[in-house]
Amino acid sequence: MSLLIRGGTVVNADRAFRADVYCENGKIAAVGDNLEAPAGAEVIDAGGQYVMPGGIDPHTHMQLPFMGTVASEDFFTGTAAGLAGGTTMIIDFVIPNPQQPLMEAYRAWREWAEKSCADYSFHVAITWWDDSVHRDMGTLTREHGVNSFKHFMAYKGAIMADDEVLVNSFLRARELGAICTVHAENGELVFRLQQEIFERGITGPEGHPLSRPPEVEGEAANRAIRIAEVLGVPLYVVHTSCRQALEAITRARLEGQRVFGEVLAGHLVIDDSVYRHPDWSFAAAHVMSPPFRSKEHQDALWRGLQAGTLQTTATDHCCFCDPQKRMGIDDFRKIPNGTAGIEDRMSVLWHHGVNTGRLTPSEFVRVTSTNAAQIFNIYPRKGAVAAGSDADLVVWDPQGTRTISAKTHHQNIDFNIFEGMTVKGINSHTVSQGKVVWKDGQLDVEKGAGRYVDRPTFAPFYEALKIKAEVEAPEPVERAKAAE
Ligand code: URP
Ligand code: ZN
Ligand code: ZN
Repeated sequence: MSLLIRGGTVVNADRAFRADVYCENGKIAAVGDNLEAPAGAEVIDAGGQYVMPGGIDPHTHMQLPFMGTVASEDFFTGTAAGLAGGTTMIIDFVIPNPQQPLMEAYRAWREWAEKSCADYSFHVAITWWDDSVHRDMGTLTREHGVNSFKHFMAYKGAIMADDEVLVNSFLRARELGAICTVHAENGELVFRLQQEIFERGITGPEGHPLSRPPEVEGEAANRAIRIAEVLGVPLYVVHTSCRQALEAITRARLEGQRVFGEVLAGHLVIDDSVYRHPDWSFAAAHVMSPPFRSKEHQDALWRGLQAGTLQTTATDHCCFCDPQKRMGIDDFRKIPNGTAGIEDRMSVLWHHGVNTGRLTPSEFVRVTSTNAAQIFNIYPRKGAVAAGSDADLVVWDPQGTRTISAKTHHQNIDFNIFEGMTVKGINSHTVSQGKVVWKDGQLDVEKGAGRYVDRPTFAPFYEALKIKAEVEAPEPVERAKAAE
């Protein structure tokens, strides 16, 4: 199978240049001027368009069992929707129940993901601790290509990791050369605030953001960052949604700490007024954690993305349809947390980022693909238009437009948080493993075509990192023995 993309402008994270791209056997074989197509090759005319690395969404939850139900989007429909919107790889999450062996959960998720039609990989959540978790983290990194472990600092009574779990897991991750990631919200405070707000008679979705104010996220982000600092392990903060968490990340980076920040497309463009909407279903459809914030926070997040303090964009794609959301009709605490977005992230980011001058096309590539590939150690297999890289590409029409709607999207959910938004800048084609899987608004995908992507650890580099406590520990004071 060979494919020539002719006459476009290649955009990589470092530069943009005029070149043809020739793909063979799932890889990019050549990038250069006036490439010839062999007989039988498919040819795309990319005149006036950009050729960019396919998007990597480093934060999705396909068919996640969560809050008493299961996310409606499975690995096939979810990766297909991603391809329709120009995202060619996801990193999803294995989330063991407390006390569930890590390897058992890992095997379950691997099986569910076999139907994916785009490439995928897994972060593994550490939701509890004992010797078997310590051992299985080793097995996952050494034998299964897992280099990142996730910690939910919220969801008390379910998957929350307390400080003891964080410390044990961070130390083990450091030993293995893996990166730690956190959902930063103080679960204890959320629990208490939820109770107080509910007892005050606020039972609707408007109670959700009230119980998860920015301070709750800022505290947890700062705590995780400081724990990581003391233990000398790199940290990646997922779905940074507010100024307080951003400031914690910025501070740490200015101090030379290896901390990364992710922001969701939704948090950049949707504000918290949605929770006061008179229609319960509309408000509940936006219940996700951390919640959507006020404009002040959105502006801060854009600045963080522009400044490079936040490196990646994601969606936290986690779909629940209205009948599922209705589990919390009388109690906002029972509304399954999650919103969709995998199909729309790329266009929303281009429209609100590139078209407004906030991001250059190369910066767009950086925050939608390359940085994720580098942070999670799959670069340059992914995240680059270069000879030898996987042929996961988008042909991007900067003049093309689309009006986002649940009526036309490919996501398996009855609601779209970007409903009615007309975006300028869309993928005319998506290429996955060298095959055109999206063109002329049509998907041509194959169940099971997606591959599991191994992500090697950073073990060699970590040798150079030292535990701060070790480095700075003073010598014990020598004292004369007291007289007997
Ligand atoms: O509300 C959300 N974000 N649901 C998915 C689980 C998580 O916290 O990432
Ligand atoms: Zn989360
Ligand atoms: Zn998530």
